[in-house]
Amino acid sequence: MEKLLIADFGSQYTLLIARRARELGVYAEIVPYYKLADEPGPEVKGVVFSGSYASVSEGPPLPERWIGRLPALAICYSAQWIAAHYGGAVIEGAQREYGPAKLLLQGSSVLFEGMPQASTVWMSHADTITALPPGAQAIAATENIPYAAYQWPEKKLLAVQFHPEVSHTTYGPQMLENFLRRFCGFADRWEPESLIESLIADLRQAMPEGQAVCALSGGIDSTVAAVLAHKAIGERFQGFFVDTGLLRKGEREAVLKAYESMGLPVTLIEAQEEFLRALKGITDPEEKRRRIGHLFIEVFEKAARSLSDGRYLIQGTIYPDVVESGASVAPTIKSHHNVGGLPEKLPFQLVEPLRLFFKDEVRRLGEKLGLPRSFLRRHPFPGPGLAVRILGEVTPERLDILREADAHFIDTLEASGWYDRVWQAFAVLLPVSTVGVTGDNRAYGGVVALRAVLSNDGMTAEPSTLPYEVLFQAAQKILQQVPNITRVVYDLSSKPPATIEWE
Ligand code: XMP
Repeated sequence: MEKLLIADFGSQYTLLIARRARELGVYAEIVPYYKLADEPGPEVKGVVFSGSYASVSEGPPLPERWIGRLPALAICYSAQWIAAHYGGAVIEGAQREYGPAKLLLQGSSVLFEGMPQASTVWMSHADTITALPPGAQAIAATENIPYAAYQWPEKKLLAVQFHPEVSHTTYGPQMLENFLRRFCGFADRWEPESLIESLIADLRQAMPEGQAVCALSGGIDSTVAAVLAHKAIGERFQGFFVDTGLLRKGEREAVLKAYESMGLPVTLIEAQEEFLRALKGITDPEEKRRRIGHLFIEVFEKAARSLSDGRYLIQGTIYPDVVESGASVAPTIKSHHNVGGLPEKLPFQLVEPLRLFFKDEVRRLGEKLGLPRSFLRRHPFPGPGLAVRILGEVTPERLDILREADAHFIDTLEASGWYDRVWQAFAVLLPVSTVGVTGDNRAYGGVVALRAVLSNDGMTAEPSTLPYEVLFQAAQKILQQVPNITRVVYDLSSKPPATIEWE
């Protein structure tokens, strides 16, 4: 299979380059710069050298043996490093550019085919190229910098100081397509669905005998991983679904029913009491997460050990998790969310069939595998469940209140057609009482916050501009039907600085 290799020098946008390439039907993998092999390998038809958080004088070197060997696109730091290294010049820190800039084309280049003379690009750099190496040609400028892009035919190189992978670069997809299809000559059109058969065959080979276990959460990743494994090894697969008591209203029933309709063998583990006990009196968010994580491992481990010949642990780890938890060279931005710790503690071999896929690709696999639509459209739900949406102590009463309030909000979104237009929506129970009136009496009641966000990957988010009527209707239902709630508010925070969840 033809492959694009992305050499990562620590840019915050590296993952996006892979995403864009795959959206254009080209299979791309990220490799940190210090793991690049001596030879690119026969299937690699092109390489992207990424940007970096560092400056040219102190950043990692590019692999010279690769430059000129195969078609390459150098972005930002890499474009500057090559210019500086081969006889051009870069000045550091002189003219910091961040944000949109107007790109003006000069001469002609395959990179810009099909583009207008002027367009908007996204800049994020402090260093600037002031002279090109002999033989390289300028192909675009901006109002601030002379060499926004250059090409160097002898080195099979296209280079840009802006970021074509960022969505603010209007013709970014066009440039990347030109680079991939015209410059590198990628001919295949990669589709994640086409890999299903080989994924199943690989799983069969990886698990020749013995049983495999999987903790299913009701989310798309673990479900798709489980379906693939089940198809590969049949009855040797055993799934577990833990009812932590921290699930949403009707969730357990809906999820188990869906697993049943898919023919997936999943055993229910009832652990509501244990989780409540572990959370008693705990108000610190990190302590809640820690206790839930530990107990989850304990409960799952016990179940997994009950199998007579359990050898493998299937996990729905996806590509962003893999890149962020080790392969990446950039400083960590997001800490890890997975319930955590399972692989180290269990005497099972870890099997991760989705480790090279992005979320939307997993969704496409899920569609192709025939998962019920209810699964494919479900909003993400955090591992620690409602515990991180109840600020303060988690008690059975507060869980009931939040479940009801959340269900009213979600039902309202469903009925108004808004559920599918947001990334995630939920209710949060706050740890305060406010004054209200009930009948003729003054009364203290609880406060529910509603949150609905737009996002691509959960790493950044904007509050959704839900219509006032929808919000009002949800609030009315909650105020009328959920006992002890006298106030409903809407959360208008974006991420950053807030996170999506409240804890
Ligand atoms: P935050 O709150 O960090 O959330 O902005 C980003 C996305 O991740 C989900 N999330 C979690 N998912 N275990 C999970 O599996 C967790 O502990 C966890 N915490 C947050 C959150 O719902 C959002 O989609």
